[in-house]
Amino acid sequence: MDYLMNCWYMAGWSDDVPGSQLVARTFLDQPVVMFRRSDGTPAALLDRCPHRVVPLSRGIHLGNAVQCAYHGLRFDGSGACIQNPHGAIPPAARVKSFPMADAHGILWIWMGDEPPVEEAIPDLSHIQALPALAQSKGTMPSACSYLLIIDNVADLSHVEYLHASTLGGGAFIGSRPRVAGSENDTVVTITQLSEAVAAPPVYDRFLATPGVKVDLMNRVTWMAPGVLKLDISVVPVGEAPESGLRTFNAHIVTPCTATTSHYWYWLGRDYRPEDADLTRLRQALMTDVFHVEDKPILEAQQALLGTTDLYAAHPVLMGTDGGPTRIRRSLGRLMSAASDNRVSSAQ
Ligand code: FES
Ligand SMILES: [Fe+2]
Repeated sequence: MDYLMNCWYMAGWSDDVPGSQLVARTFLDQPVVMFRRSDGTPAALLDRCPHRVVPLSRGIHLGNAVQCAYHGLRFDGSGACIQNPHGAIPPAARVKSFPMADAHGILWIWMGDEPPVEEAIPDLSHIQALPALAQSKGTMPSACSYLLIIDNVADLSHVEYLHASTLGGGAFIGSRPRVAGSENDTVVTITQLSEAVAAPPVYDRFLATPGVKVDLMNRVTWMAPGVLKLDISVVPVGEAPESGLRTFNAHIVTPCTATTSHYWYWLGRDYRPEDADLTRLRQALMTDVFHVEDKPILEAQQALLGTTDLYAAHPVLMGTDGGPTRIRRSLGRLMSAASDNRVSSAQ
């Protein structure tokens, strides 16, 4: 499968890679071992010793380096072999390394060959800045393409059916979403304003007057290739926006393979910020919704598709598919531009 290469993908939460461990994960079909140098900065290498092709992640972490379990070659975070216990260091003893960044509590990895662009790290500081008690996060490895997960979050009309008994209530099909994309194709926003609707139950009970009609705005912001911010505001009709409830969430996906994905979610809110019980409740509810309702449908969808891309299967398109379709077009154009660049630089 082709992937967008020269961009940042989430590799995990910052605390997924503690100082002392080697962590093995597959990104974009490539096995990767991650660890931290002595100064705490993250490093990532191809998880494949160039000597006898065994996973370096089976080895041991020594300060700034990884020592292969099999015959003891030692590699630093740049992929250079820094020690051969059996003699001189062979010139070919080098491992591919991948730039990493640690920002907003997230580890990012740059899988392409071009130099990494630090300014392109997706900005999720607005969630990190929320009070710690008002945010929670989760991890949900999924046996489906990252594109199916993006489709899912970019079309929230499914809330009223797939999540009818948990999150539904009519607000997510109350109006047609407005889709807009940036000129450079790296951002797509899908905004939906449903006026004078019943608040979804998960919000209603926290309104000053439960049961009142609300204006519900939800905005999904896709940032290439795999970040979806989801901001929702629920404001009683006729009241000032500050009197409403707002949640700030992120769904982040990174391809593991063509048909499997790393999937992380981050939930935050600006109401009752010190209420840890509410945070636990929301986390439990959403974890249940994602694991019990979304994941099985997406995995069943992938099982039916096999290795065929959904859009190559000529799906029926409806008005609600505007967001996912725009994202896939943007991603397609970014990937074509990247392959045009490769061709022209090879000439
Ligand atoms: S396989 Fe890694 S040192 Fe031999
Ligand atoms: Fe869902």
